[in-house]
Formats: sequence, C-alpha cells, structure tokens
Amino acid sequence: MTENAEIPGGQKSPIILRVTEHGEAATGSFYEKVGGRATFERLVRHFYEGVRTDPVLWPMYPEQDLEGAIQRLTGFLEQYWGGPGTYSEQRGHPRLRMRHAPFKVNQQARDHWLSHMRTAVDSLGLSPLDDATLWGYLDRAAQAMVNTFEE
Ligand code: HEM
Repeated sequence: MTENAEIPGGQKSPIILRVTEHGEAATGSFYEKVGGRATFERLVRHFYEGVRTDPVLWPMYPEQDLEGAIQRLTGFLEQYWGGPGTYSEQRGHPRLRMRHAPFKVNQQARDHWLSHMRTAVDSLGLSPLDDATLWGYLDRAAQAMVNTFEE
C-alpha cells in the first residue's frame, strides 16, 4: 500500500505487500476477510442511498455522476483495505483532505456522513471485531476531513 500509506489524521497504515505494483495484497487482507469487492460495493451503495436523501450532503455531490462517486469511494476503500489498487491507477494518490477542500465539511456534515455510513456498515452484518476495525477507521477519517468551523 505504498500509494496510500498516509491516512487522514497523519497516521501510518500497515504496509501491504502486493503481488504487482497495483495488484492485490499478497498476504491475507481485511479486504479478503470481509468478502472482497462485493462487500465494499454493498457498503458504498447503501451509504449513497442515505446520502441521496440528505439535505446537507446531497447538494455537494454530483447528481449526474452518482455512479462515478460510488465507484470512486468503493475503489478507494477496497484499495485501502488491501484489495486491488485500481483507485490510484485511475485517480492517483488519494490526497483525501485536498480532494475535500472544495466542499464545506463542518461538524454537521461529518455527523451526517457518519450516520449514513453507520447504517451502511450495520447492513453488512460483520463480526464485532471486523465492524470495530472498519468503523474505527471511518470515524477517524471523517473527523480528519472536517475543514471548517463555519456553520
Ligand atoms: C466527513 C464528511 C465527508 C463529506 C461531506 C464528504 C463529501 C464528499 C464529496 C462531496 C465528494 C465528491 C463526490 C465525488 O464526485 O466522488 C467526496 C469524494 C470522496 N470522498 Fe468524501 N466526504 C466525507 C468524508 C469522507 C471520508 C471519511 C472518506 C474516506 C474514508 C472519503 C472518501 C472520499 C473519496 C475516496 C472520494 C472520491 C475522491 C476522488 O477520487 O475524487 N470521504 N466526498
């Protein structure tokens, strides 16, 4: 995981050995453990169902390119957790703080984002340990994305 060894919040994620530069992790990964691509896509589709109904979040998203947004978030998450590195092949280094700079991410937006993500994570029915692993990351990452105190 050389491309995204840096995660929001400045922490370092564990190094993941890949079979090729952008290939899958060579050793067992969280990605595989929880069911691979299908699980992450299910998570993100569920998440966006919530976002579409959200008066704070939905105006920020590209209405005509919802499928693109679904693919970008799914691709990022699968790469982060040890799946294929397709996201960085297509989008380059994640640089998530920078990519969120155009949006007003205040505490309210973070709370809304996390509430839809919580519902989506619940829908996966993961083991308590896997749930806590995934949720701990999403919670910290969402906090790291906040870029304004403006209401
Ligand atoms: C805290 C509240 C957040 C808000 C309001 C927010 C909002 C947005 C918006 C409006 C976009 C543009 C949609 C698109 O065209 O792809 C976006 C993209 C994205 N977000 Fe967030 N986001 C938040 C948190 C997060 C977190 C915690 C993560 C990672 C765990 C994340 C990962 C991404 C990724 C990977 C993209 C696509 C970047 C790209 O390649 O262009 N976001 N976000």
